[in-house]
Amino acid sequence: MSSRSDKKWTGSEIRETFLRFFETKEHRRVHSSSLVPANDPTLLFTNAGMNQFKDVFLGLEHRDYSRATTSQKCVRAGGKHNDLENVGFTRRHHTFFEMLGNFSFGDYFKQDAIAYAWELVTSPEWFGLPKDKLYVTIFRGENSVPRDEEAYNLWLGQGVPAERIHEFGSKDNFWQMGDTGPCGPCSEIFYDMGIEAAEVPGVDKPFGQDDARYVEIWNLVFMQFDRSAQGELNLLPRPSIDTGMGLERTAAVLQDKLSNFETDLFTPLIQRAGELTSTTYKDGSAPSDASLRIIADHARCATFLISDGVLPANEGRGYVLRKILRRGIRHGRLLGQEQPFMREMVYAVRDEMQGAYPELKESADRVAKIVEAEERQFARVLELGSRQLQAAIQEGSLSGDKAFHLYETFGLPLDFMVDAAHDAGVHFDLEGFEKARAEEQARARASWKGGSKQSASPAFRELPKTVFEGYRQLRVDGAQVLALIKDGQGVTAATAGDEVEVVLDRTSFYADSGGQIGDTGWLYSDDHNAVVADVSGCTKPVQGVFAHRAILRQPLAIGDRIDTVVDAGYRDATRRNHTATHLLHAALREILGTHVKQAGSLVDPTRLRFDFSHFNAIADEEMQEIEDLMNKETLGNLRVETLEDVPIDVAINEYHAMALFGEKYGERVRVVKVGDFSTELCGGTHTGTTGEIGVIKLLGEGSVSSGVRRVEAVTGLGALNEFRRDYQVAQLASQLAPGDLSPADALRHRLSAQDEELKKLRRELDQVRMKSAASSVSNAADQAVEVAGIKVLAQRVDSLDRGQMRTLVDNLRGKLGSGVVVLGSAQEEGKVALIVGVTKDLTGKVQAGKIVGQIAKLVGGSGGGRPDMAEAGGKDVSQLDAALRSAPGVVEGLTAQ
Ligand code: ALA
Repeated sequence: MSSRSDKKWTGSEIRETFLRFFETKEHRRVHSSSLVPANDPTLLFTNAGMNQFKDVFLGLEHRDYSRATTSQKCVRAGGKHNDLENVGFTRRHHTFFEMLGNFSFGDYFKQDAIAYAWELVTSPEWFGLPKDKLYVTIFRGENSVPRDEEAYNLWLGQGVPAERIHEFGSKDNFWQMGDTGPCGPCSEIFYDMGIEAAEVPGVDKPFGQDDARYVEIWNLVFMQFDRSAQGELNLLPRPSIDTGMGLERTAAVLQDKLSNFETDLFTPLIQRAGELTSTTYKDGSAPSDASLRIIADHARCATFLISDGVLPANEGRGYVLRKILRRGIRHGRLLGQEQPFMREMVYAVRDEMQGAYPELKESADRVAKIVEAEERQFARVLELGSRQLQAAIQEGSLSGDKAFHLYETFGLPLDFMVDAAHDAGVHFDLEGFEKARAEEQARARASWKGGSKQSASPAFRELPKTVFEGYRQLRVDGAQVLALIKDGQGVTAATAGDEVEVVLDRTSFYADSGGQIGDTGWLYSDDHNAVVADVSGCTKPVQGVFAHRAILRQPLAIGDRIDTVVDAGYRDATRRNHTATHLLHAALREILGTHVKQAGSLVDPTRLRFDFSHFNAIADEEMQEIEDLMNKETLGNLRVETLEDVPIDVAINEYHAMALFGEKYGERVRVVKVGDFSTELCGGTHTGTTGEIGVIKLLGEGSVSSGVRRVEAVTGLGALNEFRRDYQVAQLASQLAPGDLSPADALRHRLSAQDEELKKLRRELDQVRMKSAASSVSNAADQAVEVAGIKVLAQRVDSLDRGQMRTLVDNLRGKLGSGVVVLGSAQEEGKVALIVGVTKDLTGKVQAGKIVGQIAKLVGGSGGGRPDMAEAGGKDVSQLDAALRSAPGVVEGLTAQ
């Protein structure tokens, strides 16, 4: 293949050159946003560079720059663009990819966007691609949006010949992020890879008729409209630019490669995957080559997703991650690797990508552990799944539903099941399987659209957002009742005694969110005199709408005016715990390491509970260090500052605020700073200074799930109560032990002394029992009866254990000189122990084993042993006396035989 560009570009150079080019054009270089979209619950993963700027395009948010350039991490797997099944089998499908982009927010428009793009792509100072290999496209006009005349002329103006400018409709040349939002016509730049890349080998087809040969490298979107939920196109306040250049495919072009997987962005990963699975990459067409490509691709995706906070799970984002990871693991198995290997791929991804994404340095160890845990779990699941498959096949009942269940739950590959069914001569219901799969996909999509709104009562929809005024004050006067919801239904009025949810235009009540529980308190009549309702909690059934859970003391109707009064004690105790949670988070990261990330939290007036990523139990000394550090910060009485309305990228990139995974933030966020010790994005209520928290006492730690630990703590009066209880114990302890021992040592001292004492007493008791049993039985030795010339002594000795009974049998045999001794005892739990001893001179006539066997039958048991000594057990204590009485008869019977 002839060289496409004089220079050999590495993937990293291409990325850096793109960003640097736009910096020379006054663009601000902005860091990639997280793969978990910060401001969009309808979006599964970040899938384009413009996601983080959506509100800026809409004019809802303003930045202090109007030009930006990014290299954005993107995932298209699950949701609208789902390429998962294709990955590995094509040249250009990926689950994870990088999108290079330049953006104008109402600054330059088409003319500059086209000029910049052409310069970067063709100028010998930059990428220097030959112009005669390039094609461009424009929007031909459709659905009442006119042809993009302007773009056409601008391309001509750049010197692109008319025959290289092609026109397409909405499908190809009108870009929109989703069903609603910013959108507009677009222009794309394509590169002709030549006949070597033809889709049908050797067939020379023109542009527009061969998808493999002509590669789209850059999409320039001319953002002009905002599409409403009704589908109308409204003009944006200011026309803007959004572009996306695929790094992987551009690398293929600039490195003279047919496939993205042959570029240096993938080859080191494929090489490593080969090492880890003892497989050599062949010519690219072998099935094992596809598996290596899949492992490389999926390792990138899983590494970045987990690094951004997604954990394998059975739903939502975590589910997509799990599917990707398991698909990668499965291909490792196809190559014969059944041991965990994906965890090593995480480090390979880190080594390749940490230059551009430094966060990988910090997260790699944590990510590797999570990947390994998933590998081990999947191995167990696969084993189970295969067994279920075999069972279903043997019963001849592998329905489509069942197969889909095995596919979804156990990750059994489709072809694996088809083959297994085929081998066993059982029909495989592919149609039923596909139907079940389509239904599941529809369900998954539905569960993403609209999020929580779908589960809330319709009565809450269409209500305006409640204005929350409770950060600074605990009461709001003259709030108006906008809605009353009773038993899930909207009502216009309710009476005393009714349990209702009250929605107001304004409130001082904090509603459940961010782990903090909502406020309690009262609604007062507008004249401030009477309590209208007791409020036991407050929630947000729909984003921004606060519902006060209330029991009415007086009638209330829509339109009424009331005062909202928060229970100050409740709020104070809660905010102490909330601020303490931030201290705990920061302290954990300082003592245990920065791999600690919040995984969940609960803050109420009585305590705080904090879940976080960490793999080992926390040692007592570490707990103490954490507690010390937190309390040092409360004693320092640091100021707790809240900053409102901070642009999210400023909060993250400049303040380095901790953002929580899975939490959705708007473009403008609230930042809570506790001195210089902690900075978090948080909407909760906090103390003014750390001194108000009082003392913080950690209560303990434990495991929640694999890789997640939990710590609980109390603060303020809650901590005081804890100390009071401890103090009572301490006092008791000091009464128990002498001297100036600590309470714990005093207790330990006392307990071990008592332990010794107890052991000594037990020993003594045993001896006494033995003695008394021996004396009472030896007196009874005279009472031995004689049958068939043999002395037989049978006695009940309930207080003795088996060992003692054996000793006693020996003693008594000695005393009798010649004879049979039978001892029986009722033991714990209603069991019977029997022991029979026969003196040596008689074992020729009667044997202990036989005697004990017959007697044991009477107490529902059995046993045996040597001729001179045998034991048995039994279950029926009530028959023990009768059994012992039968002994002489048994001996007599045996001698007669
Ligand atoms: N947002 C445009 C795309 O994703 C650039 O193609």
